[in-house]
Amino acid sequence: MRAVDIIAKTRDKQPLTAAEMKFWIEGYTRGDIPDYQAAAWCMAVVLNGLTDEEATALTLNMAQSGDMLDLHQIAPFVVDKHSTGGVGDKTTLVVAPLVAALGLPVGKMSGRGLGFSGGTIDKLESFDGFRVSLSTDEFLDMLKKHNIVVSGQSADLAPADGKFYALRDVTATVESLPLIAASIMSKKIASGADAIVLDVKVGKGAFMHTLADAEALANAMVAIGRGVGRKVAAVISDMNQPLGHAVGNALEVKEAMDTLRGGGPADFRDHCLTVAGKMIELGGKADDLSAAKTMLAKLLDDGTAWAKFKEWIIAQGGNEAQLNNPTLLPAAPIVETISAPRGGSIAGIDAAEVGKTGVAMGGGREKKGDPIDYGVGIVFHAKVGDVVSMGEPLFTLHARDDETFRMAKARLLAAITWSNEPVASPPHTLKIIG
Ligand code: URA
Repeated sequence: MRAVDIIAKTRDKQPLTAAEMKFWIEGYTRGDIPDYQAAAWCMAVVLNGLTDEEATALTLNMAQSGDMLDLHQIAPFVVDKHSTGGVGDKTTLVVAPLVAALGLPVGKMSGRGLGFSGGTIDKLESFDGFRVSLSTDEFLDMLKKHNIVVSGQSADLAPADGKFYALRDVTATVESLPLIAASIMSKKIASGADAIVLDVKVGKGAFMHTLADAEALANAMVAIGRGVGRKVAAVISDMNQPLGHAVGNALEVKEAMDTLRGGGPADFRDHCLTVAGKMIELGGKADDLSAAKTMLAKLLDDGTAWAKFKEWIIAQGGNEAQLNNPTLLPAAPIVETISAPRGGSIAGIDAAEVGKTGVAMGGGREKKGDPIDYGVGIVFHAKVGDVVSMGEPLFTLHARDDETFRMAKARLLAAITWSNEPVASPPHTLKIIG
């Protein structure tokens, strides 16, 4: 078999056999197939798609490219969640300790930023010393001792996805239903959770732009997960505007910390309660979503979730001083609030443009392995549907220098659309599957 023939088959829309998919994934994981050939194949998949059989074979081969964890030696039932990627999406930072605080173990492998969407692992690294590279033994040990662990893509678990993920990030090959489904589900299958809630985003700041595409992605992932005996549900939510107020690694960590202490933006808090609620429902701790959300809201308001978050961050090596005093988290030298240039209702905040501006400010990567700036980003003071008077604070920029400040200010002012008429706040949760 030759790599070039596999690329040509996918380019010509001829399905790969199971043996060819195995050869392809094993070869790329071992390093026999170079990045440039893998990138060409990913682009062929973006353009032509894969059959359901190919997508399942891709997922299973990626899951089996490393260790397959059996968590039952640690806990009888472990839950996990995964987002398809969005802007301002700090959900894991709240949901993981919230669910663990209720006594349901959460074992999770997360990713770094991908394209214009942020990544949990980058956000967690805002804490000095936070360890995201855990061996399998360390992963299991954390889960056993603390009921919670979030690791980065380790060399041991789904290493094929680790390589593809970093490559897709910088080759414009993220937006593909089968590649996203395989990437997410391979990690989920390898890291051994019994139940998985998929946080599927739809809109301008998501990789799926229509509800129909988001549903197709959710259904594909649910089918793959159920096919290997896992309980799976999907929450489809709006990502036309950023989630919450903050976009940027340390800024999002601070917003998550506020939410864990009973505050935080209303849309973000409700989103966390919905995702966590589905997790505890699947885990048998609540009869329905509404009961689950009521139970979980108490844990946000009474300090239990916050205490679990602190325990987790410290256990994975994070700096306790930054937990107690968030001003010690990375911060940008320029912090300036931009006022509304006019009055009216906010009709739109283009989440993709916000995400891309955040990357251009230094908060994400332009190419594989680029360093990122944890302190930079944006905090919005208004959301779609809000009425703002001219001169009121619109957003605050946290920039590393004057040039990026000016660039970000111009791009973000252009990313906001206005209306003279009242605009209804758009619904956030659009559909729940499973
Ligand atoms: N999240 C992932 O883990 N993989 C993708 O491809 C997209 C979002």
